[in-house]
Amino acid sequence: MNLPYQPVKNIIITDEELRSLTDAIFNRHRIDFTGYEQQSLRRRIIRAMGVFEMENIHELWVRMLTDQSFIYSFMDEISVGLTAMFRDPILWRKIKSLLNEETIANTHLSIWHAGCSTGEEIYTMNIVARESFNKQQIRTWATDISRQAIDIARRGEYHQLKLNEYERNYKEYNLHGSLKWYYQRHNELLVMDKELRRHVTFDYHNLITDSFSYRFDVIFCRNVMIYFDNDTKLKLFDKFYNALNPGGLLIIGFYDAVMPLIDDRKFGILDMDAKIFIKLEEKGAVD
Ligand SMILES: C[S@@+](CC[C@H](N)C(=O)[O-])C[C@H]1O[C@@H](n2cnc3c(N)ncnc32)[C@H](O)[C@@H]1O
Repeated sequence: MNLPYQPVKNIIITDEELRSLTDAIFNRHRIDFTGYEQQSLRRRIIRAMGVFEMENIHELWVRMLTDQSFIYSFMDEISVGLTAMFRDPILWRKIKSLLNEETIANTHLSIWHAGCSTGEEIYTMNIVARESFNKQQIRTWATDISRQAIDIARRGEYHQLKLNEYERNYKEYNLHGSLKWYYQRHNELLVMDKELRRHVTFDYHNLITDSFSYRFDVIFCRNVMIYFDNDTKLKLFDKFYNALNPGGLLIIGFYDAVMPLIDDRKFGILDMDAKIFIKLEEKGAVD
């Protein structure tokens, strides 16, 4: 869980300081920030410094140099991932109807949640599949750059304080059901039904630097590209295209304003409100 945020007093990081910090992190830990939108990266670093109660960039440098494992907590703060169960209920209603109509045709589906954060999106998808008529078997690859987030996703334990929001989202998706069917309470925690993650593989994966090797029917990459610059987004769309099976779906976040960047020879719009795109066959291409 992320540490409480401490307000930061007028910390300024110059372009030069940002560059040498990211170069040093790359040289020491092979974590590559090329491709991140610079202003947003700067804001995130300043926010993280507030959390670690640092007053200036010098303190951050000292900590980086003297504490080998600090990079993990630092990355967890940099990539702080807001997420929620049944976030954007209209998307999940749409996915359920696609599963019911067998637009997503196979009885077995392979799904990638790229940038899954603490996993709520994964449990949501598996609940929706369980509630569909066709009950597709799903194999999932769930990845993120934050190891802390992946650990939480793997455990599937969420604080009960989130319950009201999650239950409200669920009701917007399905008035006749209840999220209660899918978790048990242990003290202050909601523990998700283990069956929902039976076929899920959790992995560390960096979308910018790591390779994409699998063939998927559906790729979720929601509210992740918001961190990246346009060049990186363009490259990612190409990689997602190659990672999808023919007719596969790419689902992005409601605020990932990427429309002008999506190549309409490669992706068609299946549902603009739900931000679902379908892989088109490239003319003349042989698969
Ligand atoms: C806002 S969360 C989105 C979670 C979920 N997809 C959703 O929409 O509810 C963004 C996630 O992207 C991850 N992320 C950021 N940069 C990444 C990268 N280069 N590779 C993989 N994941 C990344 C963050 O760690 C964070 O967990």
